[in-house]
Amino acid sequence: MASSGGIHRETWGSKTGFILAAAGSAIGLGNIWRFPYILGENGGFAFLLIWIICNILIGLPILGAELAIGRGSNRNPVGAFKALMPGTAWWLVGFMGLITGVIILSFYSIVAGWTLAYLVKSVTGVTVSYPDAEASALAFENFVSSGGQIVIYSFVFTLLCMIVVSQGVKSGIEKWSKILMPTLFILIIILIVRSLTLKGGGAGLAFLFKPDFSKITLQVIVMAMGQAFFSLSLGMGVMITYGSYVDRKTNIINSAGSIMLLNMSISILAGLALIPAVFAMGFQPSSGVGLTFHVLPLVFSKLPFGTFLSIIFFFLLSIAALTSAISLLEVMVSYATDELRWSRPRATVIMAAIAFLFGVPAALSFGVWSEIKIFGLGFFDLSEYITANVLLPIGGILIALFAGWVWGRARLEAEIKEGNPDLKFYKVWLWMIRIVAPVAVATVLVTSLLPEKTEEAQVENNAQPDTVLVTETPGVIDSSGDQPTSAAEPSTE
Ligand code: PFF
Repeated sequence: MASSGGIHRETWGSKTGFILAAAGSAIGLGNIWRFPYILGENGGFAFLLIWIICNILIGLPILGAELAIGRGSNRNPVGAFKALMPGTAWWLVGFMGLITGVIILSFYSIVAGWTLAYLVKSVTGVTVSYPDAEASALAFENFVSSGGQIVIYSFVFTLLCMIVVSQGVKSGIEKWSKILMPTLFILIIILIVRSLTLKGGGAGLAFLFKPDFSKITLQVIVMAMGQAFFSLSLGMGVMITYGSYVDRKTNIINSAGSIMLLNMSISILAGLALIPAVFAMGFQPSSGVGLTFHVLPLVFSKLPFGTFLSIIFFFLLSIAALTSAISLLEVMVSYATDELRWSRPRATVIMAAIAFLFGVPAALSFGVWSEIKIFGLGFFDLSEYITANVLLPIGGILIALFAGWVWGRARLEAEIKEGNPDLKFYKVWLWMIRIVAPVAVATVLVTSLLPEKTEEAQVENNAQPDTVLVTETPGVIDSSGDQPTSAAEPSTE
């Protein structure tokens, strides 16, 4: 137990446990269903280089800063800013993170619910029974427009998150991360072995990694930054919260490096696990909903042991979603236990219920509420767009500015160097958090808020609209040309 200002809080049982839990938050739906496609579609190896640079120049400094703010204050995101800068309005940054977390968790649980449903459908053999692309897409559309089923599956998923979070940091989040993350790794390796040993998979490797520097535009750089940012769970206080449970011996910057590397590796491994199989079976990859719920079931239906592979894939995706969602719930629970002095079980139930209720309009926006639009977007797309493209980047900039300019140079240095007094690159890290990260994230924000220019650039680029999680709703898949193609229309990419 660590104690700060009269607040007793748990600490992680081990450094490995902490790194696995934080990597569990980072590794989520974003890595598995979005990254492989945008990598292949936006310049392959050329995109990979830019994305790696973004991870190092933006991801690493902000991740380090969030962990330092958390450990330095020993509090939840709201309490952290209050403790470090009392009497100022900086706590609002933490509060904005909380709101962002509620919204992300609400739509994340819906997609996670679909994933659970497809896991069940895999077990019963339904996912491998679609005769063609149309049948697979139609089955998905019918499923998502059946409001009741979606609400039930999201509820089950929320319940799983509640069970883990209610057990606490060490015996809940850490224990489960230590079981689930290695499992995820093993499952992905099974899929990679299968995918890479298929005849014709080489076209998938070419799609993923063939360098095409001509595709690198400002918009693609923005996309790489956005992906790095969302994927590392930055900008809303998840890492502040997880940092608050880190003991004082732990080397924060090294840990941030390990979390970043694990997160990047799983993104690349997901590409290797999925895209070669898609090409080998004669389909064309798409992203998000299209890839996961239309194309992959068809790929599995054509593969020997398809049912088994389908179960493995949807189980893997469920694990990835669960370890990310528990981190979102933990932010809210830590706020309620620290600031409102609620018990953990009470905080877990109430906060999960709030996020769940918030998600109901988003779930229904695929069915009975599909006509309701705000700024031209349904509830689901709106929640996703505002959080990923607006709230997280604003949170990221403010956290970088706070750590770099407001907190105090001596205090920041002391916190970062605690557990690692001879940190060699401190000066470099400091200028990354002071200048590079805020300027870069501000560029992402401004560019992503210019939708018309964005769309033009993307059409030219043959890329997906600039959203992080779900790039299209079932209703617009046809018009975006993002439908899975049949074996008769192999990709020419
Ligand atoms: N990092 C998760 C993913 O890539 O799917 C999503 C996420 C989780 C974003 C937690 C933000 C967050 F605070």
